[in-house]
Amino acid sequence: MKDQILMILMQNRERFFSGEEISRLLGVSRTAVWKAVRQLRDDGFEVESVTSRGYRLGRTPDILNPSLLQSFLKTKKLGRKTEFHDSIDSTNTRAKELAQEGAAHGTLVAAEEQRKGRGRLGRSWDSPPGMGIWMSVILRPAFPPRFAPRMTALAGLAVLDAVNMLTGSRALIKWPNDIIINRKKVCGILTEMQADPDLIEYVIIGIGMNVNTPKEGFPEELAHSATSLLLETGQEVNRCQMTACILNSFEKLYDCYEKTTDFSGMMERYRSQCITLGKRVRVVSLSGEWEGTALDLTEDCELVVELEDGSRCTVLSGDVSVRGIAGYL
Ligand code: BTN
Repeated sequence: MKDQILMILMQNRERFFSGEEISRLLGVSRTAVWKAVRQLRDDGFEVESVTSRGYRLGRTPDILNPSLLQSFLKTKKLGRKTEFHDSIDSTNTRAKELAQEGAAHGTLVAAEEQRKGRGRLGRSWDSPPGMGIWMSVILRPAFPPRFAPRMTALAGLAVLDAVNMLTGSRALIKWPNDIIINRKKVCGILTEMQADPDLIEYVIIGIGMNVNTPKEGFPEELAHSATSLLLETGQEVNRCQMTACILNSFEKLYDCYEKTTDFSGMMERYRSQCITLGKRVRVVSLSGEWEGTALDLTEDCELVVELEDGSRCTVLSGDVSVRGIAGYL
């Protein structure tokens, strides 16, 4: 009930709602409404109450709250089913379990903290409580497995849109999936998939974003390469609003791609926002390391690298780490 009241107040922020109106809408007593409003205040929501006018929502706290998220969402499927955790090992691991149990397309798992957050190439992902977005979305696409990297690219573009919309900052992509502001990484995307040779059972898109992390919130080894929205823009961002904004944009891009199966427009956007292109890079794979210039991207999102002898090779994101030769990028 607390969540339903929050939803009513969130969707009508400009006006007062009387206790009587709310109790009528929800079919509960006025005392029950009053108690739920008190609980919302205990949770940190500012709820104004004015005699003979009713309740109006003021400041909302930066907590992961299902109703708060729903009030910002404009999607049909993404984020409409959710599982929220205060603390979890990894939202990607949990999303995989749910997907195996048959969870619907669009199901979202999010957590205030991850104890064993996972990054690409077996790395760990630092996920301290209350500062970032640690979330995973289950997708059930109808396209063949070779198009899965396109899902990561779409998620990357969705993150750029959301960052731009809520902070006005221009973020860029370091291939394949690091989101960068001012030459530092603010967000990473881990895509995992269960598939047969021609059929995807599910794809998990895991997004980790440093949102309100202060400087001292990063471990020393990340201080030179990682940043947060707060540090780069000077603004605190509501994590539920940012989560919804990413999902809103992601669903638009995803649905459009699914309908048309034409990736060319999105690829053009990805290319224009990808800072890796044109840069000298070192490709590190299990079979060795080599240097070259990142020239282009194929339509399946592989990186085309020109080697020193003038030959070209394509690099798949799952296999390698690409490092800029001049510093982090
Ligand atoms: C990377 O840049 O290496 C990818 C990082 C992805 C981190 C996110 S946080 C939410 C989800 N759960 C995980 O364990 N990892 C992803």
